[in-house]
Amino acid sequence: MRPYFLAGNWKLHKTPSEAVAYAKELAEAFASVTHRVMVAPTYVCIPQVAEVLKGSPVLVGAQNCAAAESGAHTGEVAPAMLKEAGVDVVILGHSERRSIYGESDETINQKVKLALSAGLEVILCVGETLDEREAGKAMQVVEDQLRKGLAGITGDQLDKITIAYEPVWAIGTGKTATPQDANEIHQGAREVLADIYSTEAAEAMVIQYGGSVKPANVKELMAMEHIDGALVGGASLTIENFAPIVQFDK
Ligand code: G3H
Repeated sequence: MRPYFLAGNWKLHKTPSEAVAYAKELAEAFASVTHRVMVAPTYVCIPQVAEVLKGSPVLVGAQNCAAAESGAHTGEVAPAMLKEAGVDVVILGHSERRSIYGESDETINQKVKLALSAGLEVILCVGETLDEREAGKAMQVVEDQLRKGLAGITGDQLDKITIAYEPVWAIGTGKTATPQDANEIHQGAREVLADIYSTEAAEAMVIQYGGSVKPANVKELMAMEHIDGALVGGASLTIENFAPIVQFDK
């Protein structure tokens, strides 16, 4: 049985004081949560949020990291620095990083390797654009991103990696992939993982769905065989929305 993993990506929202106040609400609401839960604030909020969530089951995420350990990289934050600041998991290859900041699969792969060596877990995001979906290339794009993002990663490192399938056209748009469409890609992704590693390894991997997940649709998404959690943007920003998503089976 794969554990459910529900993660909130706060993107460019919440100041440090807002983040701390919200983290306190989360620590209380999820004190005895049964699924894996994570929230990813902006870099500047991480130390304070980590302090609030210390001793709570809620994991601390980062939304990105540098593709280098140190050096002349103005504006970047290295994986080891995040680890020391209290981060457990880093989100890499998010479509906003790919499209707005031009991150290539090679850069993302470099980040995955450095994050793992720094002792962080990784959520590796993959997903097709609307044009790619309409051209019938969704699975091909996901396969390519998976193979390139995981290049050089060995089977014994997989327990530190979660895959997030986020169709770009469903992010922040209110459009969700149907549970069946999402499940089909998740199943395809698992077949790719089985081809790279082994059936056993692929079966053990947690694959989250992301794209307009909300309290109203989380249950049917989580009911699908190959969907093991969610990477939530907008609906992770308030306890009213995030609590019923995390506790979708209550
Ligand atoms: O990282 C989260 C995803 O981009 C989904 O965002 O839930 O606002 O559509 P959303």
